[in-house]
Amino acid sequence: MSAYASRGGGRDGDGRDGDGKDGDGKDGGGGGEADRERAGRVDDRAERLVVAGFVTSIIGAVALAVVYIVGGQPQWEGITLALALGGIGLAIAVWARYFMDAEEVVEDRHALASTEEEVAAFTASFEGGQQTLARRGLLTKLGLGALGALGLAALFPIRSLGPRPGKGLKETAFAAAGGGSGKPLRLVDAEGRPIRPSDLSRSSLVTAWPEGHEHDADAPTLLLQVDIEEFRPLPGREDWVVGEIVAYSKLCTHTGCPVGLYQTELDLLLCPCHQSTFDVLHGAEPVFGPAARPLPQLPLGLDEEGFLIATGDFSAPVGGGFWDRGRT
Ligand code: FES
Repeated sequence: MSAYASRGGGRDGDGRDGDGKDGDGKDGGGGGEADRERAGRVDDRAERLVVAGFVTSIIGAVALAVVYIVGGQPQWEGITLALALGGIGLAIAVWARYFMDAEEVVEDRHALASTEEEVAAFTASFEGGQQTLARRGLLTKLGLGALGALGLAALFPIRSLGPRPGKGLKETAFAAAGGGSGKPLRLVDAEGRPIRPSDLSRSSLVTAWPEGHEHDADAPTLLLQVDIEEFRPLPGREDWVVGEIVAYSKLCTHTGCPVGLYQTELDLLLCPCHQSTFDVLHGAEPVFGPAARPLPQLPLGLDEEGFLIATGDFSAPVGGGFWDRGRT
């Protein structure tokens, strides 16, 4: 069984209907010329619609980029994006409707290879389409231009990802105390009160922050009084302690929980989340649990009034950042 139905009116190359009659239902004759003229006018209108669609899309994409660059406005961004996408959609739909083969074919199964007649019919149909679409080159360029403009406009929302983190993930507010021109920062408690070494005792654990940054999530610092006879500073950190006071980041290097438990007799700091344990006397090296890096140490000093200060930033980025895997 074979049935053919044409959505495009079943017009063949001579402007005749599929049953071989012209538009007036008569066989051949002068009506064929009128049909060709009518078909030509339809094709012209269709081409203009395709051009309008692509041009609308380009204008919409460029407008979207401009709206975004000047500060963005959700309603206008939506409208211009709709124009950019809708224009391409319209152009593709019209192109498919008027310039592509619209035949719907139902046929029995047969050998997959095309017969010579079928190949010849396809070639004729393909070439016929080329002739119908007189401005194919222009339309193709416009189509590519519309897609390119849309792709370009789609790049702008990358700016919406926010500001670059810069060194924000690597440094804390204590970094202001580092370097030759750095001004030492006092260590203060949660209420902003500066801390003296005498405020600590062997069994106490004090959490401190850089002065003026008491709410910084990456800056909580543990101040501990250790048995200085047992303390083994890492090379280059011999002067990072004040008396018996040593300072480490409070953020666990596993996934960033606050390390809040101190076993004074063993000089071990314990993270309650997954039980990582750090040796206070040996650079807060992890001795148990999933943490792989030591707690970063903070270099300490004393100001002229006898308050504890930081003379630089932590020895390494704080917390459990994945970007620091493999670092010591
Ligand atoms: S966050 Fe500290 S052990 Fe997991």
